[in-house]
Amino acid sequence: MTKLIVGNWKMNKTSTEAAQLVQELSKIPSGVSVAICPPFTALDRCAQLLKGTPIALGAQNVYCQEKGAFTGEIAPDMLTDLGIRYVIIGHSERRSLFFETDELVNQKVKLAQQHQLIPIICVGESLEEREQNQTLMVIERQVTTALKDVTNANLVIAYEPIWAIGTGKTATPEIAQEVHHVIRQLLSKHFNDNTIHILYGGSMKPSNAAALLAQPDITGGLIGGASLVADDFLEIIRQAA
Ligand code: PGA
Repeated sequence: MTKLIVGNWKMNKTSTEAAQLVQELSKIPSGVSVAICPPFTALDRCAQLLKGTPIALGAQNVYCQEKGAFTGEIAPDMLTDLGIRYVIIGHSERRSLFFETDELVNQKVKLAQQHQLIPIICVGESLEEREQNQTLMVIERQVTTALKDVTNANLVIAYEPIWAIGTGKTATPEIAQEVHHVIRQLLSKHFNDNTIHILYGGSMKPSNAAALLAQPDITGGLIGGASLVADDFLEIIRQAA
């Protein structure tokens, strides 16, 4: 299965800085799918620059309504109008800092799909949940609720253990594989489809990407910090190709 590498730039890069980084991302090898998710304010400019390149564009969030009085929110149409293909939904930072629930994630997934956006649904346990042996239960709840009444398998799941995000601590390939395998089983049961991407995220970098990507149920990566450095991101892409 062709691997999928996605850069999540989070709240980094002005539009001008984003344009510079995009220009450094040339020479993408074939045999790998690549997307970047810059902040909203840089999407239009990045869309122009990425025309005709193999790099797809994603957004970091979307709202669960079509339009209206939702100050500060972004509707799916506003994304598709720019040619955006992916949208990250339910990142742990959205869940913990902005109180997004599994139910809201589910509403966003359904509306995004109605607009032909491919949701990248993030799930992952906290350190406390892992220490209390609740990891698989939490993952199952997050995946199952996010997919309630979802029949379209055109989506991506990203497993991002919260304790590994931005901390430099990566899940070992074995720990990640165990969870990815459970997600794979949940997806097979729900959609009868074994081709859905399951990305690993959480301090993935050039030094650990190959071992993680070698696991049978890890089909790509959602990269935060390392996607902000062109050489590092390109190196991870090469390892996935
Ligand atoms: P990180 O972030 O690679 O900086 O740990 C990953 C993410 O939060 O998507």
